[in-house]
Amino acid sequence: MKKETFRVKRAPLIETEITVPGDKSISHRSIMLAALSNGVCKITNFLEGEDCLSTAQAFRQLGVNIEHPEPNTFIVHGSKGEFAAPEKDIDCGNSGTTMRLMSGLLAAQPFTSRLVGDPSLSKRPMRRVIDPLTQMGAQITAEGEGNTPPLVIKGGPLKAIDYRSPVASAQVKSAIMLAGLYAEGVTTVTEPGQSRDHTERMLEYFLVNLRRDETRPDRNQPPTECRVSMLGRQRIESRDFAVPGDISSAAFWLVAAAAQPGSRLLVKNVGLNPSRTGILKVLVRMGARIREVVETEDNGEPCGIVDIKGTQLHGTVIEGGEIPNVIDEIPILAIAGALATGQTIIRDAKELRVKETDRIAAVATNLRAMGVTVEETEDGMIITGGAKLKGAKLKSFHDHRIAMGFAIAGLFASGETVIEDIDCVKTSYPGFDETLRVVQKGSGLLQRRTPVISSLKRR
Ligand code: S3P
Repeated sequence: MKKETFRVKRAPLIETEITVPGDKSISHRSIMLAALSNGVCKITNFLEGEDCLSTAQAFRQLGVNIEHPEPNTFIVHGSKGEFAAPEKDIDCGNSGTTMRLMSGLLAAQPFTSRLVGDPSLSKRPMRRVIDPLTQMGAQITAEGEGNTPPLVIKGGPLKAIDYRSPVASAQVKSAIMLAGLYAEGVTTVTEPGQSRDHTERMLEYFLVNLRRDETRPDRNQPPTECRVSMLGRQRIESRDFAVPGDISSAAFWLVAAAAQPGSRLLVKNVGLNPSRTGILKVLVRMGARIREVVETEDNGEPCGIVDIKGTQLHGTVIEGGEIPNVIDEIPILAIAGALATGQTIIRDAKELRVKETDRIAAVATNLRAMGVTVEETEDGMIITGGAKLKGAKLKSFHDHRIAMGFAIAGLFASGETVIEDIDCVKTSYPGFDETLRVVQKGSGLLQRRTPVISSLKRR
């Protein structure tokens, strides 16, 4: 079968407003918590990307009735946490979130399940969830070399633990909390930084009590330690949920606008959870002018508008406690660094080496192919900005964020940029190619052209 490509040329100024599809992390969790709840939940603006559909399919295999009455709407009939044993392997596709979070939930079930994934997921480390879930009492075997999938999970009664995670990872934290929902006693997870907190916020929205605290030696810096504690066996109250737009998807267009002096972009209905908006802080440091306005927090998740004006960006340093907040945006921020003047330094981001691909190596390889000087380090990279980008033939490395990031880089390059093997984009951003086509045509009409200022509302 012929693999699809993006073919991108330099684009004119962006001056428009857009919306982006539903948030991936939140869509996964909305299905999970709805399935655990005690009634019927209607989820709207659900992301119909392959990753989240893998989660929906997994719950159907566990006997949960999930209706799909119209695009992006799912109705989940909660099963109060009681599931049926799956008849065959649960296929998590490319989705680390599906595999790691489902592991927590399956660790508590009175049956055995086997989780499999595609070649990329089959290389990703699972020890980070196996260790704590084993301490809670589950029996988990990783069939792949070096604790990689497939995972065979023999669930059973669990005991609560007080776990100190070596990584700030929302997937690890969430797997333990989902298991903790079934355990007797208080489960506590402490992590060395603030990873995204959607699980905590959603559990609270579904009326689960939990306690959160953090250690923050410097008020102006991110916390150095975050803790969440929750008593197990609480009731999960069914509620409807509207998924906000995904700021990680908006990130591509935000950088496209930020790096072009004279551009102006308004992104509406986008998630503005502070554990995800690090991209905005970094772009402001690089010189972009940004206003964010929270319009609703109805589902426990802030959601609103981002208004961004482009400029000549300048380099910055991205490191330390900020990294978990921008972990998925680092590929596109590295591209912003290439378009900026001066150096952009990314460090403390070793986690990028175990994402859908080794994102440090992938970004460095592709930037170099476009004529950028990049020094790869063990935990990041040093990008020398200011070079004129040259169009090139690039690989996606089967990673959605690499494919989309370099499509944006192509908007700034001379000649044509071709990104090969872009099928992976379907995992997180159906419709990316349509928006890209419109941006390239330069009609300035991604959706509807409105006076940008007058459409901004204050809370
Ligand atoms: C996610 C957490 C992050 C992120 C991933 C989605 C989640 O991974 O990179 O895309 O939904 O919990 P880690 O928890 O491994 O950092």
